[in-house]
Parts: sequence; structure tokens; C-alpha cells
Amino acid sequence: MNIFEALRQDHDIQRKLLEQLVDTSGDTSARDEIFKKLKTELEIHADAEERYFYKPLIDVDRTQDLARHGIAEHHEIDELIEQLEETDYSSSAWLKIAKDLQEKVEHHLEDEEHQFFQIAGKVFSDGNKTTLAKDYNKHMEDNR
Ligand SMILES: [Fe+2]
Ligand SMILES: [Fe+2]
Repeated sequence: MNIFEALRQDHDIQRKLLEQLVDTSGDTSARDEIFKKLKTELEIHADAEERYFYKPLIDVDRTQDLARHGIAEHHEIDELIEQLEETDYSSSAWLKIAKDLQEKVEHHLEDEEHQFFQIAGKVFSDGNKTTLAKDYNKHMEDNR
């Protein structure tokens, strides 16, 4: 497995959880459960991805801007998660913010998969791609 396959696999988990999340309503255990799962998933992924994907890209001139952009989007995602935590599950605003989060994350995953992966593919050697995948997957396993 290379780093792109590893990241893509977890992006699909995020997409699925987001779909389930916007399908929940009110102060229910389903909403609580899915939100907590998604929050953990997004946070560990961002952390691992910054270490084993963006960090090596920041060190290279031609990918520095792209890496900074990606990391900035992680912060925007964090802010939406915080907003959700500060809002009551029973509030009508909750679903609206959850949909904003879905849109933001999906846009971010699109950027990563359709632009960043292509450029990073030219920067990393085959050996890099496999090693980064191993380190990324280990970090995910240890923290899930
Ligand atoms: Fe990301
Ligand atoms: Fe990602």
C-alpha cells in the first residue's frame, strides 16, 4: 500500500460517517455516537496526515504552498467541529453546521485526492510512498 491508498481509504470512512451524520436528527444517541466517531476519525487523520504527508511536502519548495493550504483547511474543519460541540444536539442550528462540515470536508478531500496527490506523486520516491503509508497506518491504529 502507498500513502495515497492509505489516505484515500480513511477519506472514504469520513465520507460515510458524514453522510450518516447529516441523516440524524435532534438529541439522539445516533447523533451523539456518529458525531463522536467522526470527530475522533477527523482529528487522528489530520494529525497523522500532517506528520506523514504534509510535513515532507512542506520541506520541498514546489509543494510548500500546497501543504500550507491543506493544513489551513484542517484548522477550518477543527473550528466547525468546535462549533458543533458548542451547539445543543436539539438545536435546529446543529444540522446546518453539520452540513457545512460535510461540505468543507468533502471539498478538502477532493483537493487532496485530485490535486495534491498528483503533485506529491512526483515528489515522493516509491520507497517514500510505502514508508509513509506504513507510518501513517501505524499512527492511525495506535490512536483509533
Ligand atoms: Fe487533510
Ligand atoms: Fe486527508
